[in-house]
Amino acid sequence: MKTIAVPIKQPFQKPQSPLFGSGPTKKFPDWTWGHLDNALLGRSHRSVEGNKRLQEVTDLTRTILEVPESYQIAIMAGSATGAIEAALWTLLGSRGVDVFAWDVFGKLWVTDVVQQLAIQDRRIFEADFGELPDLSQYNPQRDVVFTWNGTSAGVCVPNLDWIPENREGLSICDATSSAFTLPLEWNKLDVTAFSWQKGLGSEAAHGMLVLSPRALDQLQHYTPSWPIPRLFRLTKGKQLIDGIFIGKTINTPSMLCAEDYLAALSWAKEIGGQKALTTRTLSNFKVLDVWLDNHPHLEYLATDKATTSPISVCFKLKESTVSKAQQAEIIQKICLQLAELGVALEIKNHYLAPASFRIWCGPTVEAEDLERLTPWIDWALSYFV
Ligand SMILES: Cc1ncc(COP(=O)(O)O)c(C=O)c1O
Repeated sequence: MKTIAVPIKQPFQKPQSPLFGSGPTKKFPDWTWGHLDNALLGRSHRSVEGNKRLQEVTDLTRTILEVPESYQIAIMAGSATGAIEAALWTLLGSRGVDVFAWDVFGKLWVTDVVQQLAIQDRRIFEADFGELPDLSQYNPQRDVVFTWNGTSAGVCVPNLDWIPENREGLSICDATSSAFTLPLEWNKLDVTAFSWQKGLGSEAAHGMLVLSPRALDQLQHYTPSWPIPRLFRLTKGKQLIDGIFIGKTINTPSMLCAEDYLAALSWAKEIGGQKALTTRTLSNFKVLDVWLDNHPHLEYLATDKATTSPISVCFKLKESTVSKAQQAEIIQKICLQLAELGVALEIKNHYLAPASFRIWCGPTVEAEDLERLTPWIDWALSYFV
């Protein structure tokens, strides 16, 4: 490690919000507790009003994400994990499956397929943090499980060109951090799962499951050989439980969290829907990308610029600046210092990912705050490089 002669001057302006963590993420601008005033508390979710509120949840989700009418949307228990596992448990096993994984969460779905469901006809394509597996290996006659944006790796699929529209198998996508950030290509997706706490910064509680007509058809014609926990059951006998797709949840949801998610969806609608959410995300990313371009000491964790996530932006110290052995300690110190100063909270890597910084650039973050954050990182870094 080089010793520094003179650290650069401490910046003057702090970000207005230090919330740059990757989940739960920052709430939308101008969020207040007042947004929860009309929450249907102490009331049954099965009352007329309760069900109406939950239907608003699915309807507004459909509007913002531009989900086709032929697709159905369910509110599931257990956040994104609950929604994804419901899909894996109820839909996999009728044919072979290809699983692509490159971050902490994708690797969890590998565990489901290999250890829990023990599907014999499986092909697992895993990549290290920073890399994307070879997606061209996917065989469209098989089911596929993949994560659109690897939140913990800062690696994102650049597009879904590798998934043909006339595939035979189902495409099952963990879209937890891509929903409400990047536009989702519905004709390439049969099963899409995400949470309330990520793209829109709402309270963590429930997961959303969006099912294509082909996925709905498979649910009615295929019964897996393994037991299905009640929380995952979308059919009774061979029939879809239709109510689940009109806000009649399998078990009791949090109406408080639902209200919070509705407030965020309303904000998203007001600012211009998916287009505006994407614009905000990409403008946020641009701030970091311009700063990181040719940065003397920092580089993306993603090894290929085309697969760099514009959402959960992960970058590390260059080995030419700091030896690999010292990186974790320095990053830890910088993150602690910036947290103590109230400049940035939770910008350190996921605890299972390599030593790096991770900054959330989703639509609820303000570009101006990112502009204010980068000089602080340079300042903190100047004590070490
Ligand atoms: C890509 C991805 N999948 C799944 C999850 C799990 O989400 P939850 O904790 O809301 O179930 C996360 C959480 O960060 C994630 O980033």
